[in-house]
Amino acid sequence: MTVSVTDALAAAADAARLAPSVHNTQPWRWVVHGDRMELFAVPDRQLREQDPDGRLMVLSCGAALHHALVGLAAEGWTGRVERPAAEPLAVVYAEKHEPADPHTMQRMQLLRVRHTDRRAVSEEPVASEVRQALVDAARAHGAQLHVLDRDQVLQLAVMIEHSGAAEQQDERMRAETATWVGGARPEGTGVPDAAIPSELPLTTVAERDFGVAGTLSAGPGHDNAAAYAVLYGDGDEPMDWLAAGEALSELWLSATALGAAVLPLSSPVELDFSRQALRRMLGDVGYPYLVLRLGTSDPDHAGPPHTPRLPAEEVIEIAG
Ligand SMILES: Cc1cc2nc3c(=O)[nH]c(=O)nc-3n(C[C@H](O)[C@H](O)[C@H](O)COP(=O)(O)O)c2cc1C
Repeated sequence: MTVSVTDALAAAADAARLAPSVHNTQPWRWVVHGDRMELFAVPDRQLREQDPDGRLMVLSCGAALHHALVGLAAEGWTGRVERPAAEPLAVVYAEKHEPADPHTMQRMQLLRVRHTDRRAVSEEPVASEVRQALVDAARAHGAQLHVLDRDQVLQLAVMIEHSGAAEQQDERMRAETATWVGGARPEGTGVPDAAIPSELPLTTVAERDFGVAGTLSAGPGHDNAAAYAVLYGDGDEPMDWLAAGEALSELWLSATALGAAVLPLSSPVELDFSRQALRRMLGDVGYPYLVLRLGTSDPDHAGPPHTPRLPAEEVIEIAG
C-alpha cells in the first residue's frame, strides 16, 4: 500500500524525533504542508548560557533533518531539501515515490539503535577502515572529520580541562545544566540518570561532568583505546552548523553499523577561548563544530537505555 505523501512526511518527522541533540533538548519543530515540510529551530529549547549563538541548537536541527530524510526514504519517498539562509532552516519536498530497498530499511533500523554511550570504550581500537568510513560520511555532507594524533589528544585534554572548569565555575551554566540533566526526566527531554555514569570513567580526555552522579556503570579500565576527532568545516554560519549536524548524523549511523561508539564532547566549542584554541590546533584550516570521542562498542554489555523524547504532537504540526 502506498502511503500518502503527507503521511510519509509526518512519519519522517516522527523518525527525526530519534535524533541526538545537545542535552537532549530536541530544539526542532516541523510543519507539514501537503507535499513539503519545514524545519524550524525552537529558541525556547536553546541553551542560552552554553550555546548563546545557537551553534549546537542548529547542529542538533541538522541531525534531525538528516534523520527525517532517512525516515522519508524508508517510507519510499525521495526528499529534496532547500536550505534558506534564514527561518525555516530547511524545507523538505517529497518528490518521487520508489519502494525502499534493504539498505534504506537498514538505515532506518540504525536510527532506532543509535545512542550516546558514556561508558569507557572497549580495549579494541577503532579500525582504520572504520575511521575512514566516518571521515567519508562527514565529507559527503560538506564537513571534515580530523582524527587527532597523540600530541593533539594531549592538547585537547588540557583544553577540555579548562573549558569544563570554566563552565563548572559559572553559576548560570551550572544552573542551566541542572535544568536539563539528571533524574528520571518524565517530561520527555534531557539526559536521565540512567545515561550518566555513576563515576566518570578514567580517560585521557575528560568526559563532560554533568554535576550529577548517574546510575550507569561506566565499566572498568582506562579508555586508552579511544580516538578523538574534531568535526569542522569551511564556514561558521547557521547553514554550516546545519550541514555539520547532517554530517554528524550520517557518521553516527555509519559508526553504529560498524560497531563503533560516538560520544560528542561539546564544552570546548561552547566557549570562545577554547573554540579558538581548537581552531588553532587545526592549523586555522576551518571552524570547529564538535569534538567526538570514537571507540569500539563493548559487544558484551548492552549500553544505557534510550533517552526520552518529546511526544510527536509537541514537535510536529500537520498544517494541511
Ligand atoms: C550537538 C551535540 C552536543 C552534545 N554534547 C555532548 C556533551 O558534551 N557530552 C555528552 O555527554 N553528550 C553530548 N551530546 C549527546 C547528547 O546528550 C545526546 O545526543 C542526547 O542526550 C540524546 O541521547 P541519545 O544520543 O542517546 O539519543 C551531544 C549531542 C549533540 C547532538
